[in-house]
Amino acid sequence: MSCKLIFLFLALVYAHSNAVSVRQNVRKFPDGFAFGAATASYQVEGAWNEDGKSENIWDHLTHSQPNPVKDGSSGDVAANSYHLYKRDVEMMRELGLQFYRFSLSWSRLLPTGFPDVINQAGVDYYNNLIDEMLKYNIQPMITLYHWDLPQKLQEMGGWTNSHIVDWFGDYAQVAFKLFGDRVKSWITINEPHSICYYGYSIGHFAPRIDSSGVSEYMCTKYLLLAHARAYHIYDQEFRPSQNGNIFIALSGQWYQSETDEYHDAAEDYIQFTVGQYAHPIFSTTGDWPPVMKERIAAKSAEQGFFRSRLPAFSPEEVEYIRGSSDFFGLNHYTTYYVYRNESSTNFAVPSFEDDIGADRYQLQEWHTQKDVKYIGHVPWGFTKLLVKIKEDYNDVPIQITENGFSTLPGLEDDTRVAYYFDYLNALLDAVESGVDVRSYAAWSLLDNFEWIEGYGIRFGLYEVDFEDEARPRTPRKSAFLYKEIVRTRALDPSFEPDASATMTIDQGH
Ligand code: BGC
Repeated sequence: MSCKLIFLFLALVYAHSNAVSVRQNVRKFPDGFAFGAATASYQVEGAWNEDGKSENIWDHLTHSQPNPVKDGSSGDVAANSYHLYKRDVEMMRELGLQFYRFSLSWSRLLPTGFPDVINQAGVDYYNNLIDEMLKYNIQPMITLYHWDLPQKLQEMGGWTNSHIVDWFGDYAQVAFKLFGDRVKSWITINEPHSICYYGYSIGHFAPRIDSSGVSEYMCTKYLLLAHARAYHIYDQEFRPSQNGNIFIALSGQWYQSETDEYHDAAEDYIQFTVGQYAHPIFSTTGDWPPVMKERIAAKSAEQGFFRSRLPAFSPEEVEYIRGSSDFFGLNHYTTYYVYRNESSTNFAVPSFEDDIGADRYQLQEWHTQKDVKYIGHVPWGFTKLLVKIKEDYNDVPIQITENGFSTLPGLEDDTRVAYYFDYLNALLDAVESGVDVRSYAAWSLLDNFEWIEGYGIRFGLYEVDFEDEARPRTPRKSAFLYKEIVRTRALDPSFEPDASATMTIDQGH
């Protein structure tokens, strides 16, 4: 064979092996894996004072002067899903979703906060939404609490009042009774760490209580008991006839030690954030993570408190909370590096940060969306976190209740496209390592009110024009990617989504 021919032969073999490897790179999702998208009542509904709904803590916060939301906005109208829910369901059909996760507005259903008044217009709204979804075989996944407490309950102390265990249990009972014939998937509370830390520690979110290291731990205790109350009510009174499942959605970011030397510091970060909620529910022993109990008791004593700032659970309470979740619901967005040195002692005292006693940071290069710098793109952190949850909590089945990326407005959201692809790929890495992941919900179906950031930062697969009264929704490039993933139940690196394509509803949806 001449040199030329040998070269040609080798080139052909090379091209062929490449084509094969590209094809091999198409990765399939396991059978039974479910795809969905998520939203939350205050972030999308609007209609803040319509049809008998009362004020909640985010209405209260955004109507206060000065309004602390960055662009001075509120969820008064938001994406107007209260009126446009049919279009939302149409979008779910366009994407081919199997389920949709949304939350109930407590103050829309129970305007007094209590079950003495049930607001029929609120009941109708959720019935209409649920029925519209079920018409097209899209399963509802309902979150009972996604941060919008009735303001009246806040005035009585909110999550730091031990009576919230009863209040939340009553509200949950009403919801199970009203909707549980059709809703088979319930989430009690969304991201307890965000509620207690941003709301009761650093004063960032409603109700903006600035009491780091003190009231946030009270919030955690009663929130866990309230969650367990709802779980037991469902388990005992409703599950036998309704046959659904109920679980909690925890926020969990990955904390990577900068070097081996900081392994303990990174572990502390995980225990104080994820573990604070996961250990009482999912560990075999229950109760707070041991490191939190020891550290906070010791620091409290040093600081002159008469008892630990971390309130104790009675043995009955430990048992009541332990095992109170059918799945580990995980909201995951990003990763941080962690280290501990002399500067890690410079925190306010007492404070949550001082209790952890470590620092965290992100690399510039993780911020692929240079003009937003909100969510860092670090897919390997997702895999590591999933493997750790499996290892720490006895192979618990996991549902990804949120994952998504932030950009500015615009349909060509290539950074979000890359994020979804890489994070779903990282999820499949975890599945290959034996992690039992059952479902994935993209955050978010559509642009919405991003809490203290207002409408400046967008998370939607669909863009919403908030300047236009009609709140039109337009699919972004990422919507075409997600649709293809859901349709093929696979990740194909050669697929190129096109934001200018026409979005249609496939047969069978
Ligand atoms: C929350 C969502 C929020 C998203 C993006 C999650 O922590 O549950 O309500 O919009 O993150 O920041």
